[in-house]
Amino acid sequence: MSQKSRVSKVFAAAFVVLTVLVIGALVTMVVFIHRDIGSLNATALPPGGPPTPAPPGLRLPRDLLPESYRLFIWPRFYTRIPAAEGNATAPNQTTVFTGNSTVSFRCLAPTRSVHLHSRDLVLSDPVLLDRDSGRAIGVDRIRDLDTGEDIMELRLSEELQEGRNYSLFLAFSGDMSPHPRGLYLSSYKEGGSGAGAGAGANADPNTQRFLAATQLEAIGARVVFPCFDEPALRAVFHLTLIHRVHTRAVGNAEEAGSFHLDDEWKFTEFLPTPRMSSYLLAFIVSELEHVQFSRRSGDLEFTIRMHAQPEAIRDGLLDYAGHLTGDITAFFHDRFGLGFGMTTIDQVALPVLGPAAMENWGLITYHEGYLLYDPNVSSAHQKQEIAITIAHELAHQWFGNLVSIRWWNELWLKEGFATYMSYVAVDHVDKSFSMCDVFVAENMAMAMETDALASSHPLILPESDVQTSSSIGNLYDSISYSKGALLLRMLKDYMREGDFHRGVRRYLKTFQWQSTDHRDLWSALQQEESSSYIQISDFMEPWTRQSGFPVVTINTTTGQISQKHFLYNSTDQSSLLWKIPVVYTSNRKELSGELVLSTAGPDIKGEFIAGPGVWILANVNYTGYYRVNYNLENWNLLFAQLETNRNVIPLLNRVQIISDAFNLARAQQVNLTLALNSTRFLRNETEFLPWDAAVSNMGYILEMFDRSEVFGPLQMYLQNQVERLYMFYKNHTDSGTVPREPAQQQNQLLAVSVACSNGLPDCVAMVTRKFSEWMNNPSNNSIQANLRDVVYCQAVAAGGAEQWEFVWNQFLSCSDPAERVRLRKALSCSRRVWLLSRLLQYTLDPEKIRLNDVSSIIEDVSSNAAGHALAWNFIRAHWDYIVTDYGPSVIAAVSRRFSSQFELEELRRFVSDHGEDLEGLGDEVLERTQVNIEWVEQNRDGALQWFRRETEPRPGPAPEASA
Ligand SMILES: *[C@@H]1O[C@H](CO)[C@@H](O)[C@H](O)[C@H]1NC(C)=O
Ligand SMILES: *[C@@H]1O[C@H](CO)[C@@H](O)[C@H](O)[C@H]1NC(C)=O
Ligand SMILES: *[C@@H]1O[C@H](CO)[C@@H](O)[C@H](O)[C@H]1NC(C)=O
Ligand SMILES: *[C@@H]1O[C@H](CO)[C@@H](O)[C@H](O)[C@H]1NC(C)=O
Ligand SMILES: [Zn+2]
Repeated sequence: MSQKSRVSKVFAAAFVVLTVLVIGALVTMVVFIHRDIGSLNATALPPGGPPTPAPPGLRLPRDLLPESYRLFIWPRFYTRIPAAEGNATAPNQTTVFTGNSTVSFRCLAPTRSVHLHSRDLVLSDPVLLDRDSGRAIGVDRIRDLDTGEDIMELRLSEELQEGRNYSLFLAFSGDMSPHPRGLYLSSYKEGGSGAGAGAGANADPNTQRFLAATQLEAIGARVVFPCFDEPALRAVFHLTLIHRVHTRAVGNAEEAGSFHLDDEWKFTEFLPTPRMSSYLLAFIVSELEHVQFSRRSGDLEFTIRMHAQPEAIRDGLLDYAGHLTGDITAFFHDRFGLGFGMTTIDQVALPVLGPAAMENWGLITYHEGYLLYDPNVSSAHQKQEIAITIAHELAHQWFGNLVSIRWWNELWLKEGFATYMSYVAVDHVDKSFSMCDVFVAENMAMAMETDALASSHPLILPESDVQTSSSIGNLYDSISYSKGALLLRMLKDYMREGDFHRGVRRYLKTFQWQSTDHRDLWSALQQEESSSYIQISDFMEPWTRQSGFPVVTINTTTGQISQKHFLYNSTDQSSLLWKIPVVYTSNRKELSGELVLSTAGPDIKGEFIAGPGVWILANVNYTGYYRVNYNLENWNLLFAQLETNRNVIPLLNRVQIISDAFNLARAQQVNLTLALNSTRFLRNETEFLPWDAAVSNMGYILEMFDRSEVFGPLQMYLQNQVERLYMFYKNHTDSGTVPREPAQQQNQLLAVSVACSNGLPDCVAMVTRKFSEWMNNPSNNSIQANLRDVVYCQAVAAGGAEQWEFVWNQFLSCSDPAERVRLRKALSCSRRVWLLSRLLQYTLDPEKIRLNDVSSIIEDVSSNAAGHALAWNFIRAHWDYIVTDYGPSVIAAVSRRFSSQFELEELRRFVSDHGEDLEGLGDEVLERTQVNIEWVEQNRDGALQWFRRETEPRPGPAPEASA
């Protein structure tokens, strides 16, 4: 899956604060992780020991091996509610589905029980056949094993024999979920993608439509049909759907045929799927339509079908995604040297989906915001997210689908690869995104944010540690996605690109149609490793089996280079060590090279004693997954270099220096003022990524200080720093013209966001002017798509009830998904508590705010300094309502800025009352708060002085030396 704004909403929140608006790519990340979580159910851990013959926890015994399923599924819902006729009243919507399945399996060890996963289903009419003889075997009873993890046991009248083949028929019925997991029903408004405020009574029955879709990762297949629901238990699925005659059904494989049962119902049968994991099954019944085209790549000819509402198709909103899908699939085919096991890819834009997208084999589903692109409405950043999301899901067709994971503890193997490959692919098909740089900057920030906490987890946990649904759910995070991807990139650089590339091909070719774990990857790569000294598994084990990452310290006074585990909390002790590839450079030409820092202890390197005026820069191009610290002299020389001629330092290292400096300060390994010094050169910087790094890193400082006296001078400093960047784009901004490259557009957005949220008068006047032009003429919104986020948000922040209500009314009537999101976000930008309070109240009413939006709104209000206390009270008052679907994410968001003893006590009380609802997050948020408190105590005074000094009137702007 792709997470929604990958990495955890937690991270995005920081961002939102500084600019009041999410600028950058980090948001993308939050999406990705979130997507994958969609199907998991937050149930409690299994109680105590299971009854004797029962397998432990989630797992089925290994005595039966499924081969294929023959599956009939009949969802009874209406895609549109028929109007009342004569004196008959209109029927009610129905969520019932029925069906039956025949699973064929082989017996590997004698047993009198069949164990299957099934949850919330009513099972009946079991028929067990010996397929070799055709003889029926009696089923004495079906019982729920009560392990808390959805296992049913069928007790048989006789023992099944090793080596024989059997089939089991079961009829079942269940209810479609209103939430996007399992088989779910979602409602939307015809004619507007993304429209519709849920199934509320105020929805116009003439335009309200419904569709049924599935979201089965990780363990959702069992809520749709009884099955062997484990990724390694691959099987062929023969699916038939029974659906209303005027609706369309799509499945993983192509349609084999269809016929009408009667005037109301028809059967659509699909070709058998490849042998695949159960969570990859998908189907949709809807009134959506599609466009279709073919592509050729070498010997592979494939068909792409893009599905959406007819209006979206008519308006060309699938054009961008469709072309990109063709290009990226062709690229992967060429790069990997083999096909993905199918020749058709269906991609569907859904109004509701838990994750941003889901890679079901041959039938990829997207939340429509990640597929529909409208150049007149979508921002540059959305375009980038669409590209990355599509590439991520397509990469899964190979990594995850063709080669599946053996168990969920190896989740990174599919998610890390999909994340890494998505950037490689997008960079290949469209250079204008500068994707290689964006990838590193985004993912480093996200992964290290989580991984620097003692509560982080190793990339690969032992299989025995991942045996409950919540422990699987916890793996959908920035570690599996971003760290996984970055370690692959580091390994690529360490073993050289050509070898890595050949090793990846070997891995796919060797293990296609099978399930793997990381050892299979290491061995495939090792076989293509051309140097004699690199032992891939030795090198990778510490990086993947230990949690966290190191900080490398170079001291140019003594020449010493050393490592230690990097942790935010300075009181945490750790003796973990890594083998670290260090590439370094310097302003003295001959002083560059690479070395591998061993686990043997600190090293002295004579040449690192650099001499007067000579600086050393380590981790060139940010290839290593670690941070770097130096002695003070070296830091100051680097800053001086940045301020005089920053271009001597590679772009990614400008990002790295800022990021390392701030995070070292956060971990109290350098002073905060050193980190602040790393931002001084930004006054002249016009590249996006260094600015983006500064903005997101200072987000933490802002969260900690925006309710204190530091805030005024801090805002003034940022206003001064950003002025030149703002002026750089001023002509574009004022005239509403668009800079050409997407990266430039994102930079313009950043400039305006930072300028306005810190009160640059020119900027505030600009947004107010543009917004009132729109209010005066609501049918003609001339605000440039890419700047709408910031203009709406800042106009609401600067305005009052009139602006807020205008946005609220636009939100209610808006049908475009991207536009709806920015209107929704703008509502939480108000500085008036009573308006924010009204917004929170609305989230309790599904007719006003659809369920899908509730957690985002609460999180957005929490990230607004004016709404933070309000949101915390609201969450506690309405916990029972909130907890089911978004408890952990809202707690993560609201606790971010907790930094006082009082707040820590409140949080502690809350965690002790509701810890079981938090899916293990309780310890993490408490730890974070503790760290915040110490940090604020240590840094408040120094920061205040530093910002005051920097904002004292000066003779003139520092001149920039020419490059
Ligand atoms: C209305 O209801 C009556 C009595 O139930 C029935 O006889 C009649 O046919 C119905 N009319 C229509 C138009 O359905
Ligand atoms: C629809 O549901 C309502 C409320 O449950 C019930 O009173 C009504 O009879 C139902 N209508 C039909 C046509 O089944
Ligand atoms: C399974 O369900 C389908 C659709 O309802 C039905 O046609 C078929 O007869 C069922 N199979 C069995 C063996 O009952
Ligand atoms: C570098 O070495 C000098 C001399 O031993 C020492 O005073 C200083 O604290 C060291 N700095 C760092 C960052 O290790
Ligand atoms: Zn994924």
